Amino acid sequence: MSITSLTGGQLPGARPGSNQPKITTTTIHEKKQRREPITCLTAYDYATARLVDQAGIDMILVGDSLAQVVLGYDNTLPVTMDEMLHHTRAVRRAVRSAMVIADMPFGAYHEDEKEGVHNALRFVKESGAEAVKLEGGAQRASLVRRVLDAEVPVMGHIGLTPQSLHKMGGYKVQGKDFSGIERLVKDAVALDRAGVFAIVLEGVPREVAAMITREVSAPTIGIGAGPDCDGQVLVLHDIVNLTFAEPAKFVRRYGDAAAVITGAVQQFKADVESGGYPSDAESYHLPKGTKMELEAILRRKEMKAYAK
Ligand code: KIV
Repeated sequence: MSITSLTGGQLPGARPGSNQPKITTTTIHEKKQRREPITCLTAYDYATARLVDQAGIDMILVGDSLAQVVLGYDNTLPVTMDEMLHHTRAVRRAVRSAMVIADMPFGAYHEDEKEGVHNALRFVKESGAEAVKLEGGAQRASLVRRVLDAEVPVMGHIGLTPQSLHKMGGYKVQGKDFSGIERLVKDAVALDRAGVFAIVLEGVPREVAAMITREVSAPTIGIGAGPDCDGQVLVLHDIVNLTFAEPAKFVRRYGDAAAVITGAVQQFKADVESGGYPSDAESYHLPKGTKMELEAILRRKEMKAYAK
């Protein structure tokens, strides 16, 4: 008997109301085998996560980019576990099909591995995430194993890792010389051997990303790493022009939410100020009988006032 016959045709985790199949780590792995491109976008709230899910994106990452694009910090370093949990819960409530991955924030796994496992478990238990992502290569292999031992799938993230901002001395493309390339390949292989279900390659030359993609069995998900990765991830706010900054070279703008929101807000302001909003049709009305009674009461009051 298959597990789906036990669960009424739905994989555990799939929720009623979705006709899209539930995406799991197995789906992601099979996509690499079939050479089918894997799609991933960030989302941080109910409304956008719902739209991303309904569009059929495979994986939704509640990225620590939350810090910048939603919370207005200068970089990803200040965002806390509690903030990440809060936003992951909102995304979880919206998503029926995509796999929901929570980003382990800076400081949540850097002091010791026990704390890293504890925080990974918190994401699953307290926010409904199906996997966690953490930054770093070979130095995280042992932590990855421990988190996997705790039954939590892990996505790796190497190359330009924003949590290493100060150590890297800025946001710089990684793997541009032979020692850098060697380090990246070793990191990717170490994570692959440790059992990550996917590896984000960020800010890496196309040629190096292609080499790593051939070398590892885990699917590679590129961001600024060229088209030869097994999949691509972008920050949702970047692709819809909601980041208020010059986009990076690899960002393609697919829409202009800033223009749509600004237009709507300006029109609302103009309508209220001119008396054009709300109209009678946009107002609630009393039932006929109550209205007539109210008018009669008001008339009597007016007559009394007149008689004084
Ligand atoms: O936080 C984030 O948005 C990320 C992705 C861009 C990979 O880590």
